[in-house]
Amino acid sequence: MGSGLILGIESSCDETAAAVVRSGHDILSNVVSSQVAMHALYGGVVPELASREHLRNVVPVVREAIRSAGITYADLDAVAVTSGPGLAGALLVGISFAKSLSFGLGKPLLAINHLEGHIHAALLQSSTQVDEATTTEPTLALVVSGGHTHLYLASQTSGAWHYRNIGRTVDDAAGEAYDKVAKLLGLPYPGGPWMDRLSAFGNPEAVRFTFSTIDRGTPGEPTFDFSFSGIKTAVLRYLETHSLREASATRHTALSAIASPTLEDARALCDPQTLDLIASFQHAVVSNLVRQTLRAAEHTGARSLVISGGVASNRALRARFTEVAQQRGLTVAFPPPALSTDNAAMIAAAAWPRFLHADFAPATLNATPQLRL
Ligand code: KG4
Ligand code: ZN
Repeated sequence: MGSGLILGIESSCDETAAAVVRSGHDILSNVVSSQVAMHALYGGVVPELASREHLRNVVPVVREAIRSAGITYADLDAVAVTSGPGLAGALLVGISFAKSLSFGLGKPLLAINHLEGHIHAALLQSSTQVDEATTTEPTLALVVSGGHTHLYLASQTSGAWHYRNIGRTVDDAAGEAYDKVAKLLGLPYPGGPWMDRLSAFGNPEAVRFTFSTIDRGTPGEPTFDFSFSGIKTAVLRYLETHSLREASATRHTALSAIASPTLEDARALCDPQTLDLIASFQHAVVSNLVRQTLRAAEHTGARSLVISGGVASNRALRARFTEVAQQRGLTVAFPPPALSTDNAAMIAAAAWPRFLHADFAPATLNATPQLRL
C-alpha cells in the first residue's frame, strides 16, 4: 500500500466532481463543477444535457483535483467511482473515465454506491465520538436528498461497513418535494435552499399539513417509511383554494427576469400568506423526518445518528435534530454543508474501507441506475 491516496469521481446527477482523499479522512482536494445554472433554465435536471456536460467537464475536473491536491497521477493508490444509483448516461461518463484511468495507471478500481458516499460524507470529518460509537454499535443514517430519502442501520465489522435499509420514501424524496413545491410557488430551481431561507419570514404554524402513516413492515420488524407526494398535492390545493396560483406565475416571471435573484428579491415577491405557507411546509417536512428517524432510533436502540444528503444542509433540519438529540442523549453528525450536496470526497472516503479489504471492481464495471444499498 502507498500513502492511502484515493481519487474519487462522481457524476450520478448534475454535478461533475473529483476529489483526492487520504486514508478516508483527509481531503486534499474537492472539486465540484455544478450544472445547476444550466438545468435551472428548464426547471429540473435534463438527463441528456447532464451527460453532455459531464463529458465536457470530467477531464478538467479530475485534472484540477490532482493539481490542487499537489500530487501526480502516479501517487494515487486507487480510483473510486460512483456506479449507481443515478442517471444511466451521467453515471457512464464517470465510470468510463475511471475505468480508463485505472487501467492506464495500473491502479485498482473501486465501485461506490452514491448513498454509501452520502453516509460517509457525515463520517468523514465527524467527531471521534461518532467514530468510536460506530465501531461498537450501529448508527442510524438518514440520507435525505433530491433523489433519495432512506433510513439505514449502518454497522462495522472488522472495518467493513454493512447497511440495512429500514425505511424509505414510497413516492417522492424529501428534496424532490421541496423542489416541486418551490416550482409551484414560482421560485428558482433547485427550490430547497430558497424554501429554507424564505421560511424564516413566515409563521410555521399557519397551515397544518398531515402525513399519512405508511408501514410496509410487520409487527416484529417494522419499517420507517416516508411519503412526500401528499404534501405537494396539499400545497397545490391550498394555492387553488386561496387563489394564489396567479401570484405564483407572476413571481416566476419576475424572478426569471432577474439574472441572479437574491433572497431579498424573492422575499419582496412573496405575500405574507405565501411566506406562511413556505414556513409551514418546511416545518411539516422537518418534523416528519425527525419523528420517523427518532421512532427508528428508539426501535433499533441506535445511539448515534448521521444525517446526510442535500437536504441535510437545511438549517431547520439541523437545528431540530441537534435539539432532540441533546434531549435524548444521542450523538448526531452532519456533513459540513459543502459535503452535504453531491461531491466526490464522499465517494473517495467511502472507498477507503473497501480499498483496505481489496474489494475491487472488475474492469467490466457498468452503471447500475437503480443500485440499492
Ligand atoms: O444530495 P444532492 O446534492 O443530490 C441528490 O443526490 O439528489 O441533493 C440535492 C437536493 C435538492 O432537492 C435540493 O433542493 C435539496 O437537496 N436541498 C435542500 C437544501 N439544500 C439543498 N433542501 C432543503 N433545504 C436546503 N437548505
Ligand atoms: Zn446525492
